[in-house]
Amino acid sequence: MADVFLKPTTLSDIDNIMTWVNDPEIAEYFASLGNITREQETEYLEKMLASANDRLFSIFVDGVYAGQCSLNQIHWPSRNARLFLVLKKKFHGRGLAREVIAAVLRIAFDELALNKVWLIVREKNEKGRHVYRKAGFETEGVLREEYRVKGKFVNMVRMAILEREYRQWYHQKPKEVRK
Ligand SMILES: CC(C)(COP(=O)(O)OP(=O)(O)OC[C@H]1O[C@@H](n2cnc3c(N)ncnc32)[C@H](O)[C@@H]1OP(=O)(O)O)[C@@H](O)C(=O)NCCC(=O)NCCS
Repeated sequence: MADVFLKPTTLSDIDNIMTWVNDPEIAEYFASLGNITREQETEYLEKMLASANDRLFSIFVDGVYAGQCSLNQIHWPSRNARLFLVLKKKFHGRGLAREVIAAVLRIAFDELALNKVWLIVREKNEKGRHVYRKAGFETEGVLREEYRVKGKFVNMVRMAILEREYRQWYHQKPKEVRK
């Protein structure tokens, strides 16, 4: 089994991050990726790292940089946060997202004491929705024509997992089901 490690992101991860932000096959899943310069990404990263409401993690698989995940828009009064996750293409197809999600949810619920983690995923991103469903997320609704990607309006699905659901999903199920 691969060793998946989430390292708190620092500015020194910029070169790793630049290896995927403009990858068209990845950018198509997000409204704000593609055509990003190193300067723009550095500026974004500096802002995120200074923010009290964002936690960024660089994903390492067997010691090799594999992508990013983060808890963004943390609303401390309501104890919720938005999950972002991207794996570099060469790491797809190994079921790694499941392990990354488990690791980031552990941080969200055990370390940050959040009550809810939510995300939005493109309605057509069947793989993303499958991965999140399997990680215990429930669909909360469809945001109709929420984003405009390549000139087309696309629906986004909002999904979320509550702290109590996380406890049940990850700790009270037999290992073979949890896997
Ligand atoms: C979404 C993402 C994180 C998943 O990564 P991954 O762990 O490599 O996913 P895998 O390819 O191993 O597939 C995981 C599961 O999805 C299933 N799957 C793959 N393609 C699928 C598809 N087109 N439709 C439905 N399910 C699919 C696999 O069969 C596997 O299912 P299983 O766990 O039940 O066996 C990764 O593809 C990624 O970074 N994509 C680009 C960015 C993105 O979409 N992020 C999420 C949106 S917010």
